[in-house]
Amino acid sequence: MMIIDILNKKRLGKELSYQELDFFFNQYLEGKIADYQMSALLMAICIQGMSDEEIFSLTKIFIDSGDVLDFSDILGVKVDKHSTGGIGDKTTLIIAPIVASLGVPVVKMSGRGLGYTGGTIDKLESIPGFRVDLSDEEIIHQVKKIGVVVTGQTADLAPMDKKIYALRDVTATVSSIPLIASSIMSKKIASGADKILIDIKVGNGALLQTVEEAEKLSELMIKIGKVYHREVRTIISDMNAPLGYAVGNSLEVKEAISVLKGEEKDNSLVDLCVLLASEMVSMGKNISKEAATSLVLDSITNGCAYQKFLELVSAQGGDLSLLSCSSKKQVMRANCSGVITKIDALNVGKLSVSLGAGREEIEDKIDYGVGILFHKLVGEKVKKGDVLATFYVQKKVHLPKMEDIFSIDLKK
Ligand code: URA
Repeated sequence: MMIIDILNKKRLGKELSYQELDFFFNQYLEGKIADYQMSALLMAICIQGMSDEEIFSLTKIFIDSGDVLDFSDILGVKVDKHSTGGIGDKTTLIIAPIVASLGVPVVKMSGRGLGYTGGTIDKLESIPGFRVDLSDEEIIHQVKKIGVVVTGQTADLAPMDKKIYALRDVTATVSSIPLIASSIMSKKIASGADKILIDIKVGNGALLQTVEEAEKLSELMIKIGKVYHREVRTIISDMNAPLGYAVGNSLEVKEAISVLKGEEKDNSLVDLCVLLASEMVSMGKNISKEAATSLVLDSITNGCAYQKFLELVSAQGGDLSLLSCSSKKQVMRANCSGVITKIDALNVGKLSVSLGAGREEIEDKIDYGVGILFHKLVGEKVKKGDVLATFYVQKKVHLPKMEDIFSIDLKK
């Protein structure tokens, strides 16, 4: 097969066969096709798109490149949840214990943050002692014992996707919907989930900018799920503002605890967690969403969800009494009175990385204690001089202008 013929075919918008895709991607994994040739193919895919058949082929090629986990030893329907990435997204910390407290086993393999979006594994590591490197045997043992585990990836799942994703990241080819669909679904299928829930984020702090793109991605993921006999449900959620009050690892764990204790109500984070947990419980127990929502709300109010979180932390060696945030703080005040109409997710993400809460490069070290705590969210009234946000810092920083983060409507 000629590399140049395959590139030309895709450049002209023609459909590539399974054999052509398999050849190109596997030769790349083996180092026999150069980065510049793969970059050309990825860019052609970005511009020309892919047929459903091509997307199914690519998903299979990614899955077959690594291990496929088998958790059939664990009784019950294992429902996995995946988010396409956001700012202040601590939903896994909240919904995993809620769902497990209702008898649905949760085996959650999470990742670290990269770019402006945070990762669940970093958040959990802000709890001193918390282990995120459980072996397959430890995972199975813990899920059988307490019904929940949240850990880093054990096996080599879809290594081809890992290599391709790194190249996409530096060639402006991340936001291709066919590539996102096959990348995420290959990892979910390889990680042994029976059913899959995907939280597709849309907004300036997300990969996708429009609801139309999110709907297209949702349709594709559901189709891929059908090929592998996995029920896939999707939720499209807003990522124009950070989720909840906290951005930064320890701060987010603290916020997750207050949601689990039922101390936070009626905000975008709580609403999304209830929605996601209800979908997972509905899938896991095969019950209506309404029935699942009522169970989820009960689990928060009767303390079972928080109790399960404590069991999870203790089972994985974490010590919550040592969870700490930086003692150095700076505040941002409102320079006018009005109603907050926007908190810019992208700028908040960039700021939190610059404070040290995230990584710009994979090897960067994270400072778990730094971050941003908002005191007011979108829709709230503020008076000139009110503290809008506290910045937990390691050393004094030059804060951005208020207008770079908050938009305030003076007329409201
Ligand atoms: N997350 C992934 O794992 N892959 C993508 O392509 C995009 C988001």
